Amino acid sequence: MSSKPAILGGKPVSDKKIRFVEITIGDEEKRAVEEIMESKQFVSGEYLEKFEKEFARFIGTKYALAVSNGTDALFLSYLALGLTFSKKIVTTPLTFVASASTIIQAGAIPYFADVNNDFNISPSSIREVIEKEKIDAITVVHMYGKPVEMNEIAEIAKENDLLIIEDAAHAHGAEYKGRKVGTLGDIAAFSLYPTKIIAAGGWGGVITTNSDEIAEKLKLLRAHGELRALMGSKGAYLYRRLGYNMRMSHIEAAIAYYQLKRINKYIERRRKIARLLNERLSDIEGIKIPEENANEKHVYYIYAITIDENKIGWDRDKFVEALNYEGIEARKGYHVPLHKQELFINIQDPAINHFAHINKYPEYSKLTLPMAEQLAKNTVWLPMHPNLSEEDVDKIVNAIIKLISWKRKNN
Ligand SMILES: Cc1ncc(COP(=O)(O)O)c(C=O)c1O
Repeated sequence: MSSKPAILGGKPVSDKKIRFVEITIGDEEKRAVEEIMESKQFVSGEYLEKFEKEFARFIGTKYALAVSNGTDALFLSYLALGLTFSKKIVTTPLTFVASASTIIQAGAIPYFADVNNDFNISPSSIREVIEKEKIDAITVVHMYGKPVEMNEIAEIAKENDLLIIEDAAHAHGAEYKGRKVGTLGDIAAFSLYPTKIIAAGGWGGVITTNSDEIAEKLKLLRAHGELRALMGSKGAYLYRRLGYNMRMSHIEAAIAYYQLKRINKYIERRRKIARLLNERLSDIEGIKIPEENANEKHVYYIYAITIDENKIGWDRDKFVEALNYEGIEARKGYHVPLHKQELFINIQDPAINHFAHINKYPEYSKLTLPMAEQLAKNTVWLPMHPNLSEEDVDKIVNAIIKLISWKRKNN
């Protein structure tokens, strides 16, 4: 196949757009929303409790606390663990901004370690950071739904007396050695943003922990520090600590509750699509497919490949654009690692970060993190969601093969 790419005026592989993401909302969610509209119980109600209970059961933790979104889940986690002023936290630069910006919001200081070629934080790079700095905690991000190699991280944490925070925004249901992510550190934060493994029909987040003490702090933190959160109406208008209003709404909890009932189906569908893509893409020279080790369960929130531009003949950005012309909504993903972002380069400027008045941050602009920088340049995100059909998968693969064949014949 070497027909002319659609970006050069040829016929696209797919007339219908194959969406990068698609959100599935079932009838149960719609009925529950109607029910809440009727009852006008918008901010609290039985779905909140039911959702928290079921989420904790699904993950395997004592507590799951529903909050306003994944960003706030991380922010509140840092506060609950006391990771605030002068504390130093090592994390990955190849992630969504919230993994690290919430460290700054909490008053702490992010340090970046490099990643491995599976997109997850590199334990040996964490060790290098720890040799130079007195670090207090590690935030791992189970990137794209692939669990981080936690045994080594746990060893580092134990040797150096560090807390572990899991940013599990991408990884509901992912497993490492038979245990779900969200149970592998001191605390974990999930996002229920509409495109995530499960959604809440708006914003939404969840924090999981096994600690009674941390859970109690979180209940106060997310609701103004008001004792109502611990003792019901007897605690109304009595405030024990500084808190925020970072709760989940009742409608969001109802949607999340019914989505959670279907989570295993969604995950199995994602895994099936990933298997089909893997089978068809693994032999193409210049393309590296996502990895899943024997002791892991990847949930493929995002199906990310890396390309060798010399071998496939396309520059990454042009390749993504050409796929879009073929009807395949590909994306270039996290194309600027956090240490290269304006926010981090200028972090010491109080005009963009009010904590700069009191904190001294590393000079992020001087950092070189080769793998993160390389992956930012050669990663391509392909469409991935439970509604993709096998025919859609064929079209994705055919578009990739078409573009590469064309270049091989016409360069
Ligand atoms: C890795 C990661 N962490 C945290 C978040 C923040 O979640 P939210 O968008 O729900 O605030 C996201 C969001 O997409 C994310 O991708």
